[in-house]
Amino acid sequence: MPIETSGSDLFQAGSNRFAADTARPCKIVEGGTKHVLFPFDHSYSRGMRELLSAADCATAGKHLSHAIENATRASNCMSSMITFLPLNAGWSSERDPLIVPWRDFVPRMNSKRCHRGVFVNTLGAGLRANFCLRAILFCAVIWFVTAGCELNAAAQAAKPASTHQLSRAAHPSNAQLADPNIEARVDRLLREMTLEEKIGQLVQYNDTGDASPAPPAKGKQGAIAAVNPESGNHVNAMQLAATGRLGSMLNTIGAERTNTYQHLAVDQSRLHIPLLFGADVIHGFRTIYPVPLGLAASFDPELVVALSHMAAEEATTAGIRWVYSPMVDISRDPRWGRTVEGAGEDAYLGAAMARAYIRGYQGDSLSRPGNVAASVKHFAAYGAAEAGREYNTTDMSEIRLRQDYLPPYQAAVEAGAATVMSAFNSLNGVPSSANPFLLTTILRGEWGFNGFVVSDYTAVMELMNHGIALDPAIATRKAITAGVDVDMMSHFYDAQLPGLIRSGQVPIAVVDEAVRRVLRVKFATGLFEHPYAQGVEVTAALAGHRPLVRKAAEESFVLLQNDKLAEGAPLLPLSSTRKRVALIGPLADDKGDMIGAWAGAGNDRDVVTLRQALAQRAQQLGTTLLYSEGTEIDSSSQAGFSDAIEAARAADVVILALGESSAMSGEAGSRAFLDLPGNQQQLLEAVVAAGKPVVLLVFSGRPLVLDWAAKHVPTIMEVWFPGTEAGNAIANVLYGDVSPSGKLPMSFPRAVGQEPLYYNQFPTGRPPTGIDLSKPPADGTRFFSRYIDVPNSALFPFGYGLSYSSFSYQDVKVSRDSIPLAQALANRTAPLLEATANVTNTGDRTATEVVQCYVRNLGASIEQPVRSLEGFRRVTLAPGESKQITFDLGFKELSFFNLESKPTIEATHYTVWIGGSSQASQEATFAVVSPSGMVDSH
Ligand code: BGC
Repeated sequence: MPIETSGSDLFQAGSNRFAADTARPCKIVEGGTKHVLFPFDHSYSRGMRELLSAADCATAGKHLSHAIENATRASNCMSSMITFLPLNAGWSSERDPLIVPWRDFVPRMNSKRCHRGVFVNTLGAGLRANFCLRAILFCAVIWFVTAGCELNAAAQAAKPASTHQLSRAAHPSNAQLADPNIEARVDRLLREMTLEEKIGQLVQYNDTGDASPAPPAKGKQGAIAAVNPESGNHVNAMQLAATGRLGSMLNTIGAERTNTYQHLAVDQSRLHIPLLFGADVIHGFRTIYPVPLGLAASFDPELVVALSHMAAEEATTAGIRWVYSPMVDISRDPRWGRTVEGAGEDAYLGAAMARAYIRGYQGDSLSRPGNVAASVKHFAAYGAAEAGREYNTTDMSEIRLRQDYLPPYQAAVEAGAATVMSAFNSLNGVPSSANPFLLTTILRGEWGFNGFVVSDYTAVMELMNHGIALDPAIATRKAITAGVDVDMMSHFYDAQLPGLIRSGQVPIAVVDEAVRRVLRVKFATGLFEHPYAQGVEVTAALAGHRPLVRKAAEESFVLLQNDKLAEGAPLLPLSSTRKRVALIGPLADDKGDMIGAWAGAGNDRDVVTLRQALAQRAQQLGTTLLYSEGTEIDSSSQAGFSDAIEAARAADVVILALGESSAMSGEAGSRAFLDLPGNQQQLLEAVVAAGKPVVLLVFSGRPLVLDWAAKHVPTIMEVWFPGTEAGNAIANVLYGDVSPSGKLPMSFPRAVGQEPLYYNQFPTGRPPTGIDLSKPPADGTRFFSRYIDVPNSALFPFGYGLSYSSFSYQDVKVSRDSIPLAQALANRTAPLLEATANVTNTGDRTATEVVQCYVRNLGASIEQPVRSLEGFRRVTLAPGESKQITFDLGFKELSFFNLESKPTIEATHYTVWIGGSSQASQEATFAVVSPSGMVDSH
């Protein structure tokens, strides 16, 4: 039977008083009869540290008994309860009292497969020598037997945590936040702060624009600056700012507005601590670039660096110093609307993009003008919402979590992300915003994250909806002790923390630590020196930024199909000999939807639509543009069909601009169907029936089902939501000024029933690899892992995308046939081998190819995906030009997570493919060999 816990108590213990006096007897603290303190000394702390890091139960037990022995040798007292003091490298005895959530200690021991009996026995073995210890053992046994025995799944997932103890990470993720000068400033300020002011730093509200700093008139509710629609709370953010009871604000737009609030905080509040203004700057502030999913299709991290830096510069002119981006949730199911906000289905691509966003936003210094603090979101695994339904449960093995979902968050943290946003969803039964395993064990303990964590919007309050908190006080306690430092919009931290601290349910040390984390970011961003909006405020898309967002859009488009027509050439690039061009569809002249679901402070009026851009082209080329809306995005009326068909009939070529509205993806934009919305499919069929060559442009925030189109439309291009320069970018690509180079960051399904569909699946036992599952197997047997009504494969797979040119791959090779296992395990950073290929532009125009490297590991002790992306490179080649492309493969690329959730390499076979999509077929192989020279079977 595993160790059990009531799951409810926080055991308080210790203070530096005890560290100073190892001979002091045990003390009862907080007036409770159930709390006992071991005198605290360094040997004890060492024992506990070892205990917690022990690999298995037997070793943990040994360390526990040593720890207890050490501690009690110096004491002569016992009580009805044992309090454990798990420590970590970041703790110092000069620090404040410690708190140990027992419920977190227990799962850690359970994870080491410690069972109650075994654990108590091991404990006993360490105690036998000493009377006092025997008494304690007795108490421990009593406790183990009598304590509330609610063993819940949450406890299993909630591995050890004591959030404040992990603040001084051994390897801090952000060196600037670990600067001792900043720490000294934080210390000084913290000493000055009242409890109310401390809690204020952990509170965040938005601005509804009708606030007043004046106190409310008697009997009136007063001016309402922040309204929390979900919780129905009313607060006056201006008053809070003026009295030092507000730490940050979200989505306060405009320099005048942020400066007004900032003046209240800086001029009127007692300690003059500036507010931090955060905003959803996701794909641009005023000058808007493609939605992140589209940007991921560029496979161009350097482009992402440039764009996110541009957005940061624009935002800081409005006083924004913190952006809620990047969203790095891996999404393998396009029904989930927030697919549009991330980099798609692959962890390697997601991690590359995550790093790029952080570099762009934060640069090399948070305090440099034009840089902002980033918030990586939504931690964690939000993108795996069951059935793609927004805010839904996620449930997965720890191996899958670590291998497929965590890498982008980790990459962002390692790149120095200053803040992290905890997600709405629950993971394996524990809501992310009260999940110590995620927020403390992994984020702070393993990754050394030293910024602060902000909850998602009202996520602390939603712990009650999740059913893990019966009241606001419990929700608050769970969130803050798990590691959520700042409460976005719940109105729980400010309302509940004072009482929780008074009653001892949340130690002041936990609040202090959260405040420290916030203040560090405020100091590091230079907010104290420059609290107000910087430079000339950018209030509209900037002409100087248009070329960059246009280039981004051009790189984001994915040419899905460009079949040769009867006359022998494909339709794209469009020839100016096609004199009459019909532009049809609801997205052809639509400004609002071009800027996507999270358009920051972008304005529709700055957008160039496709109709505008093609009209200009027509003028330049002396061609004629015919335009018809045809239908609305989501309509059943066919009133516009005849006009559209007439335009098609009159044209030499038809460009159809179909797809989703921007509101059909993004937050709360889940869809159960992935077809063209409304009656656009009927419009498509009617226009195709007119018999003219058709280019279908698909605007969407997710992969759609384009099965019919793929069979009947010669040319299809996915253009996502391209941003402010939408029309110009599309026109440039249509007319061949630029050759498309985007590759799909998500698989496009044939039918919605295939979802979740992703290229790096595990193999099944049926059938063995290499059998074509796209049609019924030749021998007529049915017992294979396949659908009877649709092929397994994607219609357009991950990594796929065409160009106006063509590329061939030759000489795919690896630099070594075998690698000794010891070497593979020894160095975790140096490359172990090189994989190379020669890529040649076999077409007649200069074009860019995204060369991709995939790896499969065969024979490992844990099943591995059929292939995984482990490298990519954008290469521009002139006609006939060849280049050798090299990918370094090392531990990171070749390892996998084993059953202990540790990354490892075993003596196994590897296959490497290099090519232009996840279906690359040219391969090379090598093996990692054990000392005997064998490739083992595990
Ligand atoms: C979203 C976040 C966003 C936050 C603040 C939430 O509803 O999930 O992505 O950053 O609101 O606007």
